[in-house]
Amino acid sequence: MKAIIYQTQTGLSYQEIENKRPKAGEVKIKLKSAGLNRRDLFVMNQQRSHETFYTPGSDGAGIITELGEGVMDFELYDAVIINPSLDWDTAKNVPMTPRILGGPSNGTFSEYIVIPSQNIIKKPVYLSWIEAGILSLSALTAYRALFTKGQLQTGQHLLIPGIGSGVATYALLFAKAIGAKVGVTSRDEEKLRKAGDLGADYLLKTNSDWKTAIKKGNFDIILDSIGPALFPKYIDVLKPDGNLVTFGASSGDSVNLSLRSLFYPQLNILGTSMGSKEEFEQMIQFITHHNIKPVLDSVYPLIKIEQALERMKSGNQFGNVGLEME
Ligand SMILES: NC(=O)c1ccc[n+]([C@@H]2O[C@H](COP(=O)([O-])OP(=O)(O)OC[C@H]3O[C@@H](n4cnc5c(N)ncnc54)[C@H](OP(=O)(O)O)[C@@H]3O)[C@@H](O)[C@H]2O)c1
Repeated sequence: MKAIIYQTQTGLSYQEIENKRPKAGEVKIKLKSAGLNRRDLFVMNQQRSHETFYTPGSDGAGIITELGEGVMDFELYDAVIINPSLDWDTAKNVPMTPRILGGPSNGTFSEYIVIPSQNIIKKPVYLSWIEAGILSLSALTAYRALFTKGQLQTGQHLLIPGIGSGVATYALLFAKAIGAKVGVTSRDEEKLRKAGDLGADYLLKTNSDWKTAIKKGNFDIILDSIGPALFPKYIDVLKPDGNLVTFGASSGDSVNLSLRSLFYPQLNILGTSMGSKEEFEQMIQFITHHNIKPVLDSVYPLIKIEQALERMKSGNQFGNVGLEME
């Protein structure tokens, strides 16, 4: 079978690799589509210090072509979506080091994948193959961040800084689906316009004065993936006892904050990352119930992986970048 391989010395290549068979409890899937995440780049960078040979990619969807011994919940030719969160069952039971599909284990940028049946779910019929293939990691992250950690409720005000990312666009769609008021920020007018088309209530230029821009009151929840570049601004616009949920560090890893600015208004800073099998199933039920479709930025054939990664690196994308296998 053909797959994208990352090797330390040579980087990415499209090559023939061994076709594996499922062991007990596993299924083999013929992938139809896959999705890119910033994690793919991050993991490749991490692996630079030692010899490595693996297929990247966390998101994907396809058809079951072989069932391992003892797999009862699925049948041959079922259409399924992959949950890349390995070995994490329930929302409360957070693993010490969550394992994610696609580095060092072989991921979805491939014609086939063998994966535990625990890590698949039936594809809702209303989603196209490409929509099903790009959603897992970012939609799961958004779901846990908003609902399990942030506890977002109908009518509350949510701020999503940096609205172009995959997680951010899902958070916007999920929050609007339950009737929250959503503010978004971007340095890019075009991304703000697109967010407005998706229902965002406040469109804030990143470098504007958010305090004066917000006339209707401050935010109950802020969903941050940007980090130090914007962190101090969050404190000014979060309500007392508000939740600042953080899941990324796009502008750096360290922030310098006055502790008084946290404890006087009794702000809650909550870390989150990915999500459990339980939350993945809840997220798929949620999007099916609300008929939510991912925001697709662009699609490339599998062999054009380098161009797809360039699109993600550019930071110009709005929503997810996808790969098609045929
Ligand atoms: N922990 C998890 O489970 C998990 C899962 C998925 C993603 N993530 C993280 O989520 C983040 C979002 O992913 P991504 O790939 O879309 O990230 P990204 O391209 O690095 O950033 C997303 C947006 O953040 C804004 N931004 C970035 N740097 C900024 C800066 N210095 N100042 C102001 N705004 C800035 C940009 O918005 P504008 O261009 O609109 O201004 C950009 O489009 C990443 O940090 C990623 O690692 C974490």
